[in-house]
Amino acid sequence: EFTPRVFSGIQPSGDLHLGNYLGALKRFADAQDQGIQSIYCMVDLHAITVPQKPEDLKRSTRELCAGFIASGIDPQKSILINQSQVPEHAQLAWIFNCVARMGWMGRMTQWKDKAGKNAEAASLGLFAYPALMAADILVYHATHVPVGEDQKQHLELTRDIAAKFNHDYGVDFFPLTEPVIEGAATRVMSLRDGSKKMSKSDPSDASRINLSDDADTIAKKIRKAKTDPDALPSEAKGLEARPEARNLVNIYAALSDQSVEQVLSEVGGQQFGTFKPLLAELAVTKMSPITSEMTRLMADPAEIDRILAHGAAQAREITAPILRKTYEIVGM
Ligand code: ADP
Ligand code: NA
Repeated sequence: EFTPRVFSGIQPSGDLHLGNYLGALKRFADAQDQGIQSIYCMVDLHAITVPQKPEDLKRSTRELCAGFIASGIDPQKSILINQSQVPEHAQLAWIFNCVARMGWMGRMTQWKDKAGKNAEAASLGLFAYPALMAADILVYHATHVPVGEDQKQHLELTRDIAAKFNHDYGVDFFPLTEPVIEGAATRVMSLRDGSKKMSKSDPSDASRINLSDDADTIAKKIRKAKTDPDALPSEAKGLEARPEARNLVNIYAALSDQSVEQVLSEVGGQQFGTFKPLLAELAVTKMSPITSEMTRLMADPAEIDRILAHGAAQAREITAPILRKTYEIVGM
């Protein structure tokens, strides 16, 4: 009975990289013309659960907005927002803080990973993070959330919160949101270690291709990417025990919108000395228009701020009535 609606958020912290592009931004852009209303959010309230320099946060938020648009998200078709500009997210999060149980939060693996052994020193916000994420999603009655494997547990918690709210208040108000899990092919691994995902938190800059890298840097990083001495196989089976080789082929396939099988039918038998320059050329061809569009957009921060203000106004047409109704259900 809930209208299909997609919500997804990305933290504005640090540079965007090829993993963010292939695993999130490009997928969002590809899905845009399916006619499902979609909200894409820069989650700055989540970013400050760990310390952020104010000027960096502001810049990263604009850069992320530029990254969404440069990747093909059209602010006329999708709603692009900065979380803190839509106050209903934080307002609903408080209600959910009172619905969620301490024990549920304590079981979140991301909390355990991020707080580490020194949980006493972690922010209360880091602990409550999943309740805010539930509010981000449910304040839109979003039915679908594209998430990576790492966010699956938080989405289950979102469903638990929705179900407990509905049960406690005897209503059928919040939907049980479905995850849309990314395929294995869009999991981009580190260029230096095929067992780790490409991530902005990796201290080695050579492990990732940043959306801000120029053509020479991209080519150099691919040339230096870790591989093995064997030629490329002609079938996917041949990549099974070769994570670094598989990663480069996956990247090629994702960038060229082909299957791994299609790519291998072309490049099977080639050595990396031949394949890497092809991959570098493809990556530069696909990434440089995005990089230059981001640079162009970043030259006019006021325009980005206007886009985000417009998005916030559109978003609040959805969130304000849902929050009002929630308050009413709670007795406020
Ligand atoms: P990071 O891991 O670099 O901190 P985030 O956790 O902020 O990136 O992820 C933002 C979005 O990009 C999420 O949708 C996430 O699933 C996607 N993403 C991040 N890293 C990768 C990757 N290596 N491969 C595929 N998708 C990724
Ligand atoms: Na992350």
